[in-house]
Amino acid sequence: MNIRDIAAEAGVSAATASRALTGKGRVSAATVERVRSVADRLHFQPSEIARSLSSGRSHSVGLIVPDITNPFFPELMAGAESAAKALGQTILLAAAPGAVSAREDLRLLRSRGVDGFIVVGNPFASSAQLREAAGARPLVVVDRAESVTDISTVVSDHVEGATLAVRHLLALGHTRIAHISGPSELDVTALRVSGYEREMRAAGLRPVVVEGGFTADCGADAVCRLLDGPQPPTAVTTANDISAIGAMNAVFSRGGRVPEDLSVVGYDDIALAALVRPGLTTVAQEIGELGSRAVAELDRQMSGDLAVRTVPLRARLVERCTTRAPS
Ligand code: RIB
Repeated sequence: MNIRDIAAEAGVSAATASRALTGKGRVSAATVERVRSVADRLHFQPSEIARSLSSGRSHSVGLIVPDITNPFFPELMAGAESAAKALGQTILLAAAPGAVSAREDLRLLRSRGVDGFIVVGNPFASSAQLREAAGARPLVVVDRAESVTDISTVVSDHVEGATLAVRHLLALGHTRIAHISGPSELDVTALRVSGYEREMRAAGLRPVVVEGGFTADCGADAVCRLLDGPQPPTAVTTANDISAIGAMNAVFSRGGRVPEDLSVVGYDDIALAALVRPGLTTVAQEIGELGSRAVAELDRQMSGDLAVRTVPLRARLVERCTTRAPS
């Protein structure tokens, strides 16, 4: 059974039958319906390998993320996967915490013939090394892209996000606001620290930054260091929602309350932020958009438009129940 049998049964040419089944090209709705009903009745499944050989494309995209245990990245992937499916593409996911595994994943995905790559951050020392590891294939860097050059990127405005968090707490009357930062080696950490410090200084306040990280343990450890210090804060902005939840649990373990004893603002707005109790006030990134816009960027490059550009996404505050005026 092949496409020619389906075409003959449906009374159309093989090319028309192929277009009707792949959704590519102009075919009347009636013809599409007729061809698809014949294909269903004859249990015909087009061969992806044959399609790839004829089109020279695998219709798949490699997505490399640093950590699939952090809910942020599966939500980013969901956005990418939805956009890819609408284009008749599939996403091949790889988790690479560092340059060595990223180089290996890029090689492996190239051997699978992916049409292009979406990479969260640049795991290599330079953009040229990333470009070289990705071969001549279309490439987009998302999220952690401050130091990337000559490669299209899709990024959130991390300075804006950190600023929104501080302004929210200032508006509630807090003056002792500390920031629990992310991993110091990441550009997103530096951007958020700079947004926090700029806003605190603009309000005539002393910034207090402690390095935390993107895990619950990092958030718990950092908030305990702050609360055991000489001038405990009345509010904290955190590296991400997971570290904010860790910080909240540490406050609860010490017999404290959120927000009565400490206001907490997260970062990302992963689905969990609305489910924890109290609901986490946080800075929302357009997480799914990071993925879907990256797929659109790749598709643009695959269509021959190789102009390098940056797609900026906004941050916004989502107010829930972990912040209030200082008691
Ligand atoms: O939670 C994971 C963090 O790493 C997010 O804030 C995201 O920006 C990524 O860089």
